[in-house]
Amino acid sequence: MYRRQFVNNYIKAFLGVSFFPVNNILSLINKNLFLQSSILINNQRINRNLDKLKSFGKNKDGGIDRLAFSDADRDARKYVIKLMEDAGLSVTIDTAANIIGRMDGKESKLKTIMIGSHIDSVIRGGNYDGQVGSLGAIEVVKTMNENNIQLRHPIEVVIFSNEEGGKTGSRAMANLVEDFELNIVTDSGHTIGKGLSLNGGDPNNLVDASRGSNSLAGYLELHIEQGEVLDRKQIDIGIVEGIVGIKRWNVLVEGKTNHAGTTPMKDRSDSLVAASSFIQNVYSTAKSIEGTQVATVGRIKASPGAPNVIPGETRLSLEIRDLEMDKIDMLFDAFQKKSEEISFSYNVDFQFDQFYVSEAAPTDQNFRSIIDRSAKDLGLKSYRMPSGAGHDAQSIAKLAPVGMIFIPSINGVSHSPKEFSTPMQIINGVNVLFRSLRSLDGLLD
Ligand code: GLV
Ligand code: MN
Ligand code: MN
Repeated sequence: MYRRQFVNNYIKAFLGVSFFPVNNILSLINKNLFLQSSILINNQRINRNLDKLKSFGKNKDGGIDRLAFSDADRDARKYVIKLMEDAGLSVTIDTAANIIGRMDGKESKLKTIMIGSHIDSVIRGGNYDGQVGSLGAIEVVKTMNENNIQLRHPIEVVIFSNEEGGKTGSRAMANLVEDFELNIVTDSGHTIGKGLSLNGGDPNNLVDASRGSNSLAGYLELHIEQGEVLDRKQIDIGIVEGIVGIKRWNVLVEGKTNHAGTTPMKDRSDSLVAASSFIQNVYSTAKSIEGTQVATVGRIKASPGAPNVIPGETRLSLEIRDLEMDKIDMLFDAFQKKSEEISFSYNVDFQFDQFYVSEAAPTDQNFRSIIDRSAKDLGLKSYRMPSGAGHDAQSIAKLAPVGMIFIPSINGVSHSPKEFSTPMQIINGVNVLFRSLRSLDGLLD
């Protein structure tokens, strides 16, 4: 659209309205541009490729266990690299194990536009989170190649590593990964450092994966909503206005391990009972405050873990999310204060160890308008909304303007084998990605 307007103005300026049949020329040029921009992605191919991707780490519930750094992750990465090469991309793996497929632009001096997402999953995850945006980005490039479209900007399709376990790949690009994170043991059983090596990265030179703040023109990510707003309102396309900030802590509750039969109730230091009181408080406090903040204890382990032993040690995770980082800090202070009361009541100690921060990130105004325009041109209904899920786009927002396109998640289910978006919703999203990318190429320097 921007290019079309530009061409209109250009012709008006040079030819003048009075001498030439400008309207005829304009309509010819516009028709040509329209023909170009009416090119659509291949509906069958994108859904077929997504179906094939389901086989890597498929579980008995119809979802996937494709934890970052697992064998299933590695097999899926090989499949995706093949798709990228087949789409005409030159593929490399950076030291953060991000898979990067590059297509040169017509104007060699221009900065890169990135598109992409991730293909790793949570435990017992679904087939759409990250995968739609990853294969959608590859489909866009494949379509461009088939139609001999080369953009002004170089394009990079990026499949970010370990999104679900801490956005390692995208955070490394923004130089945000701290050394201690490499020693964190992930659900795959490997530390992040070992996992990066297994996937072709180099944790000792992670800094080489970082991009300068002036190296990218922008980043655009297609993703499933993972909530029920679009499905409930029957909207085709979500235009993300901002992505929530996230902080995570490991919490250690220390009491005293002792015999469950001989220790009277009044003499116990039961870490699990204290932890349960803490969890109740996290839930009720986060629920009672006005706003969209969320707080979760998603993991708990009591030790030593026997029916006849009082658990002397309980470890749990704490995660808080909000669009405002101050709100996250305010809630954490309240939880910590409460833990002091609980310590006193149950004769235990609490320790909090923060291990993860992902800053809240607004998306760029121009990106939002372009996504909106693209959806409208395709006859799709769109809606502006925040993202309650974290995404690689929020790491890249440290480096460049970003935008995000959402498609509906049926019944708002995600991080579950029941996660689902229809083939048509996927096609719509990928077409909006394609169209938006081409408009951005015209707009960005
Ligand atoms: C990623 O899916 C997250 O929001 O944790
Ligand atoms: Mn996810
Ligand atoms: Mn995701």
